[in-house]
Amino acid sequence: MANRKSVSVWCFLCAVLSGLLWMILGSTLPVSAQEATPTVESENDRYTYSNDHDPNGTGKFYLGREIAQVMSFHGAPWLERAEREEEERLTLLLKALKLKPGEVVADIGAGSGVITLMMAPMVKPNGKVVAVDIQQEMLDLLADKLNNLDLTNVDLVLGTEKSARIPADTVDVALMVDVYHEFSYPYEMLLELSKSMKVGGRIVLVEYRREDPLVPIKLVHKMSEAQVKKELLQPELGLKWKETIATLPRQHVIVFEKVRK
Ligand SMILES: C[S@@+](CC[C@H](N)C(=O)[O-])C[C@H]1O[C@@H](n2cnc3c(N)ncnc32)[C@H](O)[C@@H]1O
Repeated sequence: MANRKSVSVWCFLCAVLSGLLWMILGSTLPVSAQEATPTVESENDRYTYSNDHDPNGTGKFYLGREIAQVMSFHGAPWLERAEREEEERLTLLLKALKLKPGEVVADIGAGSGVITLMMAPMVKPNGKVVAVDIQQEMLDLLADKLNNLDLTNVDLVLGTEKSARIPADTVDVALMVDVYHEFSYPYEMLLELSKSMKVGGRIVLVEYRREDPLVPIKLVHKMSEAQVKKELLQPELGLKWKETIATLPRQHVIVFEKVRK
């Protein structure tokens, strides 16, 4: 019995010592011999940069498209302009989305909340809108409006350039109106967002039609349908194109479905 006990103590000591030895040797091994995590390298490969670029762009390119500059909160009055309904037909957009009571809708890049406030009553009761933006000033503008309204189903989230910071498997519909083209890290944003989606949930991009030269918007703030599909159909996102709605005067509404985790 005593012998057995001392054998187990020896075994335990040997295991601890070999673990220590591995830690010391492992840290001195060349990177190729260790288990390297390639994230930084692949992120650098994903984006390209050029000094020769559109004045409204960032000089950073993703899959052949130049990423636009983020619209500052100083531009919020443009989002609130009286002519917006006539130019963009937001009421028609929301009708086409067929939101249902009880759904969780994420308004990514919510800005001053024009669309959030239109959607919140549509998902009552039990549903809510999660309004995400990377500019606290935009969220503050929305919070001021909420203070004067009888709406309790809006959550405000300060996102980052790489993530909307919404828990996994919780979103029925994620809407991005005039937003996606200005993400500094579109791939990372989508990868995180796809994790937040329920299977069967929809990711909806509303972008000014780049194919149409008559749409009076700066070039880098427009996207073609083909480019949107190229970026959203990266296999690791687990998305499938569902439909493109062409009823708005200036924008296309491109809908993807989350089909697998
Ligand atoms: C042109 S505004 C559109 C606002 C709103 N969707 C609307 O149509 O009224 C774009 C918004 O996207 C936000 N934005 C840019 N990159 C973002 C990101 N990575 N995550 C969340 N919001 C972002 C900007 O701060 C800005 O408020």
